[in-house]
Amino acid sequence: MTSVNFDPKVFDTPEFWRNPYPHLKVLRDHFPVYHDELHGLWYITRYDDVVEAFRDNQHYSSKNLERSMALVFGTTMMQFDGEEHTKRRNIVAPEFSGRRLEPILPIIEKNTQELINRFSATAAEDLAQDFQAKGEVELIDAFSSRLPVKVIIDMLGLPQEDHDLFHEWYPAMMAGLSGTPEEREQGIESNRQFHAYIDKLVDERSKRPGEDLISKLCIAEVDGARMSKEDIKAFASLLLVAGGETTDKAIGNMWVHMMENPEQFEEVKRDPDLFDRVFTETMRITPPAGSQQRDVIKPVDMYDQTIPVGAEAHFSIFAANHDERVFDHPDEFDIFRNDLYFGRELRSGYFDSGQASHLGFGLGKHFCVGYQLARSEAVIGSKALLKAMGSPRVKAGGKAHIQVAGPRNEPPKLELEFDVV
Ligand code: HEM
Repeated sequence: MTSVNFDPKVFDTPEFWRNPYPHLKVLRDHFPVYHDELHGLWYITRYDDVVEAFRDNQHYSSKNLERSMALVFGTTMMQFDGEEHTKRRNIVAPEFSGRRLEPILPIIEKNTQELINRFSATAAEDLAQDFQAKGEVELIDAFSSRLPVKVIIDMLGLPQEDHDLFHEWYPAMMAGLSGTPEEREQGIESNRQFHAYIDKLVDERSKRPGEDLISKLCIAEVDGARMSKEDIKAFASLLLVAGGETTDKAIGNMWVHMMENPEQFEEVKRDPDLFDRVFTETMRITPPAGSQQRDVIKPVDMYDQTIPVGAEAHFSIFAANHDERVFDHPDEFDIFRNDLYFGRELRSGYFDSGQASHLGFGLGKHFCVGYQLARSEAVIGSKALLKAMGSPRVKAGGKAHIQVAGPRNEPPKLELEFDVV
């Protein structure tokens, strides 16, 4: 028996949401399966155990999402298991990988440039008037929170003029997933407004399909099955949220790490292709999605404990990605570490090289559909930002903090300044 104590009240503190890693280390080291009786959850925290749990469809089910995500969005593939899940996933997943993603790259570039032009306009005007031009930007509001939404809007074929509406709806929908009852209500209301907004559009696209994703979903068939109108609307909500706030956090955190690690930033400035590595290491050290929950459908025996049927298990991505059994000096940001697999994810876990991947996109049947899209947005976006800003630094007295996924985090800010030449 361990003599170390762990108080689950910590999960409700701002301190935990600012920096969960030291607390999760206690769980990894002393309570690799931890029953949090206060919140009714079972935590799994070691890398190997989290990998195994994600792959295990016999003991765990995603049905728990019927009680959270589905209440806000409606029915989506995420809440299904087995064949029902595969059938739904096969309708949409091909649109997000391989060749089909190629036409999206110019969309990412166009949207990136539009956002950069917007925030560099003032500095450019100053320069034209011979002032010593210094650009300033709060990168989260001006860029990282906007790019993923703009890209999804274009992919769905929705009007960019209404960007501010989507930008308002999606954080409310996100907060509705894990927040207070009031936030849940607000999330449901925002989702209702979004669905009302796209309702007519789905009808029109079913009759006269175009090249956009909504049209493709209207006509796609797998095993003779088509998506219902409600399923299409729920999937559009899922995309806004699954691909919005997560990619926002990834891009924002990449830049916070660059500001905090000037030597590595120098290397990246010399070779911007290294942003690919920055993305991967950011996904490991500060994953935007910190954990995934599952219902336990068969008793799970681990470390002399049994997680009973009906329990809710919490696979901690935060904890697994910081497991010192797998990653040396796991709390250090290092784009040249040799224990991490830096290639495109394709799948997760251990690779033949012996390196382990980050688990930021999950693993197994529900592995993230948008992994390639997210990487492309983060890398293309960051390269363009570097070109536009040259050598940015945190503004004197400015804020720069890592965004941790969670309902109680501070409003994210990354206040930068840069010289315009
Ligand atoms: C850095 C950004 C992203 C992160 C960290 C992330 C993370 C994740 C994780 C952890 C899962 C697994 C969920 C589970 O196991 O239950 C997942 C699933 C999913 N993601 Fe992402 N995601 C990102 C970007 C995107 C983008 C850009 C899209 C699409 C626009 C997307 C769409 C989805 C969908 C549809 C699923 C459900 C897959 C399924 O249930 O089979 N994600 N994502």
